[in-house]
Amino acid sequence: MSQVPQHIAIVMDGNGRWASKRFLPRIAGHKKGVDALRRCVKTCGQRGVGVLTVFAFSSENWNRPADEVSGLMDLFAMALVREVPQLQADGVQLHFVGERSGLSQKVAHGIEQAELATASNSRLILNICFNYGGRWDMVQACRRAVSEGLRPDQVDEEWLSRHMAMSFAPDPDLFIRTGGEMRVSNFMLWQSAYSEFFFTECLWPDFGEAEIDAALRAYAQR
Ligand code: FPP
Repeated sequence: MSQVPQHIAIVMDGNGRWASKRFLPRIAGHKKGVDALRRCVKTCGQRGVGVLTVFAFSSENWNRPADEVSGLMDLFAMALVREVPQLQADGVQLHFVGERSGLSQKVAHGIEQAELATASNSRLILNICFNYGGRWDMVQACRRAVSEGLRPDQVDEEWLSRHMAMSFAPDPDLFIRTGGEMRVSNFMLWQSAYSEFFFTECLWPDFGEAEIDAALRAYAQR
């Protein structure tokens, strides 16, 4: 096992509580969450992590209050445009993983443009799981097997792995969840089979270099 995880997956939890503690609207926590993600990308690149995958919007997040969902969508659309130049400068290749149908034209277009603009970068791969669920991923892979007319004996772990939405990346070595909950919440169900888990009370907007280093130290000691 290498000392530095090649792939880190993160459930960025605690934005809402960060905001509530300050009597701010939840969207203020999500905005700080974008800042935390920017710091995290930078630190992971500096520490030699090759792939970072974050859970930005789950299939279940559509059930949140309508104003929070639309606030999040506006934030994503804005961040997609605003963050790309710095990601370019830092050699980050962006991938969006999840169900694209049902997204607004603005968000879908922003995603396409951001992926295109960063496609030839190679320092760090940043996977943003958006309108994503681990079960969704398994179902879409199974549907492909059916639509390609495979026989049952042709569908095995190797075939499914190759048809998961993140088949281009290695499985995560380290799975981090911030915000104190100790659940997987339908994130990377297939890919985290052998991951090391690191749970922290730290709320996502407060997650910075010191917290990333604590997770990396814990991983190196396992
Ligand atoms: C969970 O906190 C966080 C989210 C549902 C949104 C995460 C999104 C970001 C950090 C922004 C990422 C930005 C881009 C451009 C990809 P919560 O609201 O569930 O917090 P709570 O558990 O305290 O209520």
